[in-house]
Amino acid sequence: MSRIAYVNGRYVPRAAACVHVEDRGYQFADGVYEVCEVRDGRLVDERRHMDRLVRSLGELRIPLPMPLRALSVVLHEVVRRNRIGYGLAYLQVTRGVARRDHAFPPAGTRPSLVVTATGLDAAKADAMAAEGVAVITFPDNRWDRVDIKAIALLPNVLAKQAAREHGAREAWYVDRDGHVTEGASSNAWIVTRDGKVITRPAEFGILRGITRAVVLEAIRAQGLALEERPFTVAEALAAREAFLTSATQLVMPVVRIDGHPIGDGTPGPLATALRRGFHGYAAFT
Ligand code: PDD
Repeated sequence: MSRIAYVNGRYVPRAAACVHVEDRGYQFADGVYEVCEVRDGRLVDERRHMDRLVRSLGELRIPLPMPLRALSVVLHEVVRRNRIGYGLAYLQVTRGVARRDHAFPPAGTRPSLVVTATGLDAAKADAMAAEGVAVITFPDNRWDRVDIKAIALLPNVLAKQAAREHGAREAWYVDRDGHVTEGASSNAWIVTRDGKVITRPAEFGILRGITRAVVLEAIRAQGLALEERPFTVAEALAAREAFLTSATQLVMPVVRIDGHPIGDGTPGPLATALRRGFHGYAAFT
């Protein structure tokens, strides 16, 4: 079955899907994106992802390419046409196609919209969660608007590559004060020896992860001890558990940081339980 992508008003074979060379996404990384989990063919937390998309676009003054209801139809249609049971939907909006000039293009330039959907192997993801993953720490060298889900991800690319070269799955950014900010494509969490769940507050400095928000709800609903505050690398190394969250990895236990085992070096019970219970708190709308 050939895969289908949506590009600026048309459903096209993914292998042939392309944008103009003067698209500002291509020229300047001038755009934003969203990644939504697809489960049983349904989009997980679509509303929250769309709310964040609207916010990211607003911060960059890029118009919404079409009304949200129409965008939702396109998302569902791409998932349907690709017959995705489990996987992800990817949506990207750029400031559109215009003669190369750093400043904004003329008013009325239409934003570009691309939507794709990719099937993932749920069993493989669960097997990885059963093992836990390794992370490395990496200096946070990004701009200070990482709350915008911008497609400009070069620092994230370099951090992730460094992780891979160290046999790790993720890189945890560390700010100048020695605090962990977040992962290259996920949010970062620890559980202290006395059972408190710690994650950095979602002000500027991290992306306001949708998975993070759902996990926070789960933690509060279960009455678990929670502190939204920055934590240091030393605290992480001394933690009972660590884990990361993202739409594609859900709750993923972290068992090693910079080669040091966390807790007993196996996935922690809290991270494992939060992963198992995640979809009880997520919204299928
Ligand atoms: N990444 N922080 C960063 C830097 C991210 O790129 C992501 C998501 C997250 C987690 O956000 P959410 O829970 O909404 O997925 C945090 C996506 C999955 C990606 O780039 O593929």
